[in-house]
Amino acid sequence: MKLKNKVAIVTGAGSGIGRTTARMFAAEGASVVVVDIEKKTAEETVDSIRKRGQDAFFLRTDVSKGSDMEAMVAQTIQKYGKLDILFNNAGIDIAKPIVETTEAEWDRTLNINLKGVFWGCKFSLPAMMDGGGGIIINTASILAHVASPNQAAYSASKGGIVALTRQIAYDYASYNVRANCISPGDIMTPMAKNFFDSCEDPEERMKFFTDRYPMKRFGEPSEIARVALFLASDDSSFITGQVIKVEGGFSIW
Ligand SMILES: NC(=O)c1ccc[n+]([C@@H]2O[C@H](COP(=O)([O-])OP(=O)(O)OC[C@H]3O[C@@H](n4cnc5c(N)ncnc54)[C@H](OP(=O)(O)O)[C@@H]3O)[C@@H](O)[C@H]2O)c1
Repeated sequence: MKLKNKVAIVTGAGSGIGRTTARMFAAEGASVVVVDIEKKTAEETVDSIRKRGQDAFFLRTDVSKGSDMEAMVAQTIQKYGKLDILFNNAGIDIAKPIVETTEAEWDRTLNINLKGVFWGCKFSLPAMMDGGGGIIINTASILAHVASPNQAAYSASKGGIVALTRQIAYDYASYNVRANCISPGDIMTPMAKNFFDSCEDPEERMKFFTDRYPMKRFGEPSEIARVALFLASDDSSFITGQVIKVEGGFSIW
């Protein structure tokens, strides 16, 4: 029970990495605020947590909207009286080279992936400081660190998350807030599946990427959730402003 009596917000918790992490945080004793834009899948996450006798509730939130994010924190405080952990994880990927990326696609990607993290931190930090401290974990991507075909807006948004996380860690360390980033490689989630399905030859693309991994496989959502749990717990008490790459060695060669 590494998160006993903690209150955690997990964004993008209706699917993939967020859903698995929400379940893991709840299993470790946290009350989990399951945040997603999609009601049906997020409620499934909540149901699966409650069925095990653990605590979760759903807040429909568009992370790109400041008013939604302000309400997310306010409702969390109203229900639980505090906020200990924020996992800014919701994200989208529009895979295109820059010359084919429209202004609307650029704005949508940056607004959800990067501005969503800005809103989450902006509204959570005062609550965390009031409560004597807190922990922020942001999901970046290995594409914040290396190039891959046709990921202009996505990689820019993820690079921004790494820099923003470092800045928050620096500015709020004296308030007992720690902020870190996880940069996943390919993780088998609906997002990854949609990406490969959209390729001309999905099997060839999957092999192309799998071959670039020294471990010759993609990751599972639980392999990210376990790192998020480590960063959310006292096990990482002297770690802040860092990026943990969880990517099977993708970037080492
Ligand atoms: N899977 C990978 O290979 C991989 C690799 C590196 C980094 N990541 C990052 O990991 C994070 C989670 O990805 P995932 O693979 O778990 O993706 P996923 O399965 O698509 O889950 C993302 C969740 O976020 C939700 N969401 C999208 N836009 C939102 C918004 N504006 N407000 C609130 N929720 C929103 C999605 O809802 P909808 O389904 O309705 O869109 C979905 O439920 C993302 O930040 C992603 O960039 C993933």
